Amino acid sequence: MSYARTLRCRKCGQEYPLQPLNLCESCLSPLEVSYDYKAMAKELSREKIAGGPTGMWRYRDMLPVEGEEVDIGTGFTPFVKADNLGGELGLDHLYIKNDCLNPTYSFKDRAVSVAVTKALEFGFDTVACASTGNLAASVAAHAAKANMRAYVFVPSVVEPGNLVGTAVYNPVLVKVDGNYDAVNRLCAEVVRAHNWGFININLRPYYAEGSKTIGLEVAEQLGWRAPDCVVAPAASGLLFTRIWKGLDELYMLGLIESVNTHMYIAQAAGSSPIVNAFNAGSVHIHPVVPDTIAKSIAIGNPANGYHALMIARQSGGGACAVDDSEAIAGVQLLAQTEGIFTEPAGGVVIGTVKRLAASGAIKRDELVVAFITGAGPRTQDILADVVQPVTVQPTLESVERVLGVIA
Ligand SMILES: Cc1ncc(COP(=O)(O)O)c(C=O)c1O
Ligand SMILES: [Zn+2]
Repeated sequence: MSYARTLRCRKCGQEYPLQPLNLCESCLSPLEVSYDYKAMAKELSREKIAGGPTGMWRYRDMLPVEGEEVDIGTGFTPFVKADNLGGELGLDHLYIKNDCLNPTYSFKDRAVSVAVTKALEFGFDTVACASTGNLAASVAAHAAKANMRAYVFVPSVVEPGNLVGTAVYNPVLVKVDGNYDAVNRLCAEVVRAHNWGFININLRPYYAEGSKTIGLEVAEQLGWRAPDCVVAPAASGLLFTRIWKGLDELYMLGLIESVNTHMYIAQAAGSSPIVNAFNAGSVHIHPVVPDTIAKSIAIGNPANGYHALMIARQSGGGACAVDDSEAIAGVQLLAQTEGIFTEPAGGVVIGTVKRLAASGAIKRDELVVAFITGAGPRTQDILADVVQPVTVQPTLESVERVLGVIA
């Protein structure tokens, strides 16, 4: 039995039964799952969670599902003390949450695992999504596991590696002639015409809850405490809001003592509508036309941007945009200090941590968690220039001569 009770409008508070629905019919604001936290608190303890499965479903009591989980092995990803990188950046307590190591190589598996579980509960036989790249692979993989049909819509600019990384699961892969915002608009129409479970449209409230587990894990991996600072990437802004919700819920349930976390948003300069609003001191997010190599986070009109902005402000955090060259440098720095190969979104996060540490916004003695949410191999075209092997003949003499020259 789940503790989820209703879908609730963030803005006007109107409640709806748990169903495939993402926007309030009165005010068109996003709906969120609300729970009976009193009943949940009675059942839940650190020990119960610790005794659960080694994956995201150890937090099942905090998720809105009734049915059997569609699980491809997601979660409980490595949490690494990044001493080498911290040394470079002047931070003594820097940690990396390495969500590259999910089954389809991004944090999206968390969100999709919950959303596809709900899709089955609601009786859908087909799932679909609008994706910047990573979601497509994750939806296709979960549909394969659940024996469902999948339609995945991606923008025409998506990286070749993401197409292969999705097509291998055999969904119907639809390339839309336009950017992500165009894909999203199109899918909002498609969802009205077809009775499909659209993972990030009509199933979005459930998808959102799955993302929350990355924040829950970090608190548990820190020995049940919240970090001083979180630095996380934002596209639609949803993940960022769910990291916060996860920490907040743990506090409400008495599982952590306090949350004094400063929440920092990381965006690519070529797609930074939330950062722009933060810097302008505005509450209005003005859509932009994205232009960045960080395609997985290139959303110009972020559905959860306002909420993310409020969290950054009210938590005493901030927002920072880094350009493409800083993102690439961030990818290389993380690889060369910690042995972790992330995609450009992770490079944006590292570039942001670097800037925040250099400006003194983040202090040396604070406990900082950088959220690395997607892996590098599908987007390796951005790094073509780093490949500069030396060539030798298969003889010891040739090795000594060539390596002698470069030594
Ligand atoms: C690797 C990666 N990180 C972060 C995000 C941001 O997600 P959100 O739309 O929840 O802000 C995405 C979104 O596609 C992503 O692919
Ligand atoms: Zn409303």
